[in-house]
Amino acid sequence: MIKPFSQACENNKQPILAQLKPVLANAKTVLEIGSGTGQHSVYFAQQLPHLQWYSSDRAINHEGINLWHRDVNLTNLHVPLELDLNNAWPIDKVDAIYTANTFHIVSWQLVEHFFAGVKQHLNDQGIVCIYGPFKYKGEFTSQSNNDFNRFLIERDPLSGIRDFAAVELLAKQAGLTLISDIAMPANNQLLIFKRQ
Ligand SMILES: C[S@@+](CC[C@H](N)C(=O)[O-])C[C@H]1O[C@@H](n2cnc3c(N)ncnc32)[C@H](O)[C@@H]1O
Repeated sequence: MIKPFSQACENNKQPILAQLKPVLANAKTVLEIGSGTGQHSVYFAQQLPHLQWYSSDRAINHEGINLWHRDVNLTNLHVPLELDLNNAWPIDKVDAIYTANTFHIVSWQLVEHFFAGVKQHLNDQGIVCIYGPFKYKGEFTSQSNNDFNRFLIERDPLSGIRDFAAVELLAKQAGLTLISDIAMPANNQLLIFKRQ
């Protein structure tokens, strides 16, 4: 298998790291959901060595993630967990949960499953970081996000860019408080929640 590669991950990893660094300063364990190629897990585990980084995805992506992990052989980077949002999570409790570019890919029902999992698996005072494009009051933050949303829905009618307010409501119902909503490059946001 050829090592999978995402140019977007290369572009966004540094700006995301700059935001994660202070919010994850006191965390010890992070679960990443929908690790994709595995590039984020390698970079964040390298740059944040105080963290135990647990990547995860559906089994179909594990071979590619493992190719990235083998190249670095970091002791704080764990083999990918098989975590499909349709099913129970194969982990106990963690201090932080990170996901990038997943909410507009999976169905709304699976976004709800995400927050049900957060409620069950996040420690008190834990942090949730969600990166990706969002809508505000039904409006896209750019024409390119509008076009991207049309592409997504044509491909899969259950997917699509989510409304920030609907996500925040689910987060509140899971016991989370919004700490910050940071505008990121390329019309993305980084939502940071805390379990108080
Ligand atoms: C657009 S990719 C994002 C990957 C990576 N986080 C990134 O930022 O490049 C969406 C990811 O969601 C994952 N995904 C799709 N359906 C899922 C499900 N039911 N449960 C967990 N992950 C899922 C895919 O396997 C893929 O890794």
